[in-house]
Amino acid sequence: MSERQKVTIRTLFSKAEKGEPISWLTCYDYPTAYFQEQAGIDMILVGDSLGMTMLGYDKTLPVTMDDMIRHTQAVRRGAAMAFLVGDMPYMSYQPSNESAIRNAGRFMAEADCDSIKLEGGGEMAHRIEAIVQAGIPAIGHLGLTPQSVSALGGYRVQGKGALQAKKIIDDAKTLENAGAFAILLEMVPDRICKIITERAENCLILSLGSGPDAHGQLLIYHDMFGLYPKFKPKMAKVFGNAGEVILNGLTQYVNEVGDKTFPQPEHWFTIKDEEYDELLGLLK
Ligand code: KIV
Repeated sequence: MSERQKVTIRTLFSKAEKGEPISWLTCYDYPTAYFQEQAGIDMILVGDSLGMTMLGYDKTLPVTMDDMIRHTQAVRRGAAMAFLVGDMPYMSYQPSNESAIRNAGRFMAEADCDSIKLEGGGEMAHRIEAIVQAGIPAIGHLGLTPQSVSALGGYRVQGKGALQAKKIIDDAKTLENAGAFAILLEMVPDRICKIITERAENCLILSLGSGPDAHGQLLIYHDMFGLYPKFKPKMAKVFGNAGEVILNGLTQYVNEVGDKTFPQPEHWFTIKDEEYDELLGLLK
């Protein structure tokens, strides 16, 4: 097993102070968490994107707290040292501060998370404040916020116009003042991300498709490896085509079963002749 030190908030701020970018990936299952931990990932997000990547929905809204807890527990079993972030699903925090604290608390108590993340601008500042006051580290999420995809008019870059960009910059400061120790900027123009990062005083800024000037980078694991067949966003660099490798292997398996080249003797189990003969006697 890994000999890594536990990644904490202090580790993350210390990296940022030294100008070392923070690496962050989504993850939803035990084996992938194991590999990410071995690779030395700093942070893992169990995103509600699991609704799309793992459960096959076409958006994140149907994902429940129980879905999130089950997957987050599996990820923690594979990655003991990475900084683990539980993503609060739709309607787990929007209704009230109490729902927000209770559900954030479930991530910490039941899934051993280090922090939670929730979507939304200044209107979510009270939720962040309440969660942080309950002793739970919170990460904000601005720009493209998939739980509001209908209100945003689709999966599109946010903050291209000056007024909208100003609102994102203001929202970032409001969330920081509410106590968020980090903010994810998803699909925000690079120069807006740079301004927000430069203005952040006690808050880590993380980029998903928002350029290189943040304190760290996030990618969706399934996009990195060609594992989500429906869509590949522009910001996703493909680091290997695991989807193609898996499809080729599956096709070969189907063909080999069909033409009887699988299985071969090394793939099955046998019984000794004397045991077999005795069995035949017993069966007479
Ligand atoms: O659910 C998720 O994976 C996310 C990312 C899109 C940032 O929130």
